[in-house]
Amino acid sequence: MGARSVNRRSSRRDRHDADRARGYWQERAPQYDRTISFFERLLFSGGREWACSQAHGAVLEVAAGTGRNLPHYPPDAQLTITDFSSDMLEIARRRARDLQRRADFAVEDAGSLSFPDARFDAVVCTLGLCSVPDDARAVAETARVLRPGGKLILLEHVRSPSGSVRFVQSLLNVPSVRFCCDHLTREPLDHLHTAGLEVSTLERSKLGIVERVSAYKRG
Ligand SMILES: C[S@@+](CC[C@H](N)C(=O)[O-])C[C@H]1O[C@@H](n2cnc3c(N)ncnc32)[C@H](O)[C@@H]1O
Repeated sequence: MGARSVNRRSSRRDRHDADRARGYWQERAPQYDRTISFFERLLFSGGREWACSQAHGAVLEVAAGTGRNLPHYPPDAQLTITDFSSDMLEIARRRARDLQRRADFAVEDAGSLSFPDARFDAVVCTLGLCSVPDDARAVAETARVLRPGGKLILLEHVRSPSGSVRFVQSLLNVPSVRFCCDHLTREPLDHLHTAGLEVSTLERSKLGIVERVSAYKRG
């Protein structure tokens, strides 16, 4: 089989995965706030505050969902809030209006952002890299749009360093990806160095399942 036909097939599969994931999140948008608030209490308490407090200047949030980070950004952050689900983003827009928080909103695929290189001082992504169809590509894109010295800030659930926890995660991963578009065994650190990012903070909690990372773009 020729390289061109393999490429065509994998780009068709990528498109199929992206369409499926977008359809899933469009459908879930009305219930998302209720569902995630349970997991926030259980796993991610304080994580949104931690992530947003470090974001200054021109800030891009990718896979922002319903905008649950909006209340936590410092006043000097000039926000561009993106997601590939227009329904999620519409809820985020309403939240910003209620909070009287100025922000630009754009429907954007984290894997192929329309912004120019080095446009942002900081990029925030919370609970997004577990959901995007191609996390390596999304990390590469966030690095591209960061200025040299700019900061990528992540809050994620990841594969645990503990073998027994990881084993359970790998069993649950198949149904989780299939039915919830949620990857349980990913590790963003796998992609940061290749994307030109240097980790400056790394904190793990909850049996190593929850990770807080900030990383600078080398430059
Ligand atoms: C678990 S939710 C997280 C939402 C939000 N970041 C939060 O912290 O609550 C995952 C979000 O990722 C978005 N998403 C998934 N794949 C994406 C992609 N390729 N590009 C942009 N957004 C994406 C979904 O639409 C959804 O809003």
